[in-house]
Amino acid sequence: MRTAAVIVAAGSGERLGAGVPKALVRVAGLPMVTWSARALAEAPEVECIVIACPPGGEDDMAEAVAGHAQVHAIVPGGTSRQRSVAAALAAVPDDVEAILVHDAARPLITPTLVSRLIARLRSAPAVIAAAPVADTLKRAGDSDRVEATVDRAGLWAAQTPQAFRADTLRWVFADADDAELGSATDCAGMAERRDVQVLLHDPEAPNLKVTTAADLRLAEVLLGTGRIT
Ligand code: CTP
Ligand code: MG
Repeated sequence: MRTAAVIVAAGSGERLGAGVPKALVRVAGLPMVTWSARALAEAPEVECIVIACPPGGEDDMAEAVAGHAQVHAIVPGGTSRQRSVAAALAAVPDDVEAILVHDAARPLITPTLVSRLIARLRSAPAVIAAAPVADTLKRAGDSDRVEATVDRAGLWAAQTPQAFRADTLRWVFADADDAELGSATDCAGMAERRDVQVLLHDPEAPNLKVTTAADLRLAEVLLGTGRIT
């Protein structure tokens, strides 16, 4: 399927606290976003890449993804993740059949994962990377005191990339109002709310999201010394 990829990279990275946007923080020698751009560019289905960056940060972003001919546009992101997705979607060419949305904060994405998600779009309008929850889950009250143990049967942790048939994702975003773009935390959730069938796809490889300094150290090891696949 002819595919466009959106990378959302407009966040500030407050919890990482690096003093620069998280997507530009170096991991194993490269800006974090470069790992995602490279993996997406290596997937044969991906014809074009649109990146949402912090407003005013277009030049730094262009430098970080230079050399990938698939990069089609770099647009200023919004004040929430989903507003950034919406801004990027507006720059995606009309003629693609599939759109994949990915967080720059997940640099362990691989071309194989991208191709598998796109291939599964033949059987469903949406397929997302996700992993079955392995930890025992606790619900806390106001403090760190446990209120309950939550049954983890059937629970998965959603990741990115999230792949959609292009017409489906465009319809979902056209139907959403600005409040929903402010509160939704992923595209699949917006699709589910509209009864779109969403399939889960376990990458069966580390696909961590870099949120804190500890995550960054782990990503550094995984990308620096040869990936565990
Ligand atoms: N993102 C975005 N636009 C926003 C907020 C987030 O494009 N207004 C992107 C981030 O760049 C990241 C992804 O959404 O790739 C997931 O967000 P998160 O991990 O929360 O990143 P930040 O918002 O940058 O981090 P923090 O919440 O710690 O500030
Ligand atoms: Mg955030």
